[in-house]
Amino acid sequence: MKTVATEKEQSMYTDDAKINTEDSWAVVTDCTEHTVLLGKCIGALVQPGDCLALCGPLGAGKTNFVTGLAEGMGVEGRVASPSFVVMRCHPGPIYLYHADAYRLGSPAELEEAGLDEWLEHGVVAIEWAELVEDVLPSDALRIDLGYEGDGRRIIFTAHTGRHQEMLEVLKRCDCWE
Ligand SMILES: Nc1ncnc2c1ncn2[C@@H]1O[C@H](COP(=O)(O)OP(=O)(O)OP(=O)(O)O)[C@@H](O)[C@H]1O
Ligand SMILES: [Mg+2]
Repeated sequence: MKTVATEKEQSMYTDDAKINTEDSWAVVTDCTEHTVLLGKCIGALVQPGDCLALCGPLGAGKTNFVTGLAEGMGVEGRVASPSFVVMRCHPGPIYLYHADAYRLGSPAELEEAGLDEWLEHGVVAIEWAELVEDVLPSDALRIDLGYEGDGRRIIFTAHTGRHQEMLEVLKRCDCWE
């Protein structure tokens, strides 16, 4: 995994606003394990009430990322794609609510399923968050995953000071180098 830092890499994202600023950060993970590891690093930093909005196409690595997130949070149970249920709850020191918006009929269904209650009790990670943007909290940490050669490009966008600080910790962390 590497931070998107070289001139060549930076130039690939010049059309993409706000990369590598205080509220955005892009990394390229070059294998599945590093996508999981990145999730694990975030898992050690999240707090109840955090909403993680995971966006990106089929197979981009959203569930891999949540697998690491769960590991970093120390929650119970194996993470699986929640595609056939709206949400899977993983109890732990902080509860993890792992939701998937792919098969929802409308964004309102996420609210009806209990989004607000999940946020009161723990951390919410939502796959296919781009489909339910309208009902997500405006301070959600946005995580865009996309294909980048044989690996994945992962872009974090923070909307709160605390999430900016989380990104600062991640940027300084050398666990993927
Ligand atoms: N950095 C990486 N480099 C190469 N392959 C990766 C990387 N990260 C994840 N993968 C692979 O990409 C796939 C991601 O699967 P995953 O189920 O996590 O995707 P997803 O975004 O949750 O898909 P869906 O939209 O179907 O829920 C897996 O096959 C995994 O091994
Ligand atoms: Mg998935």
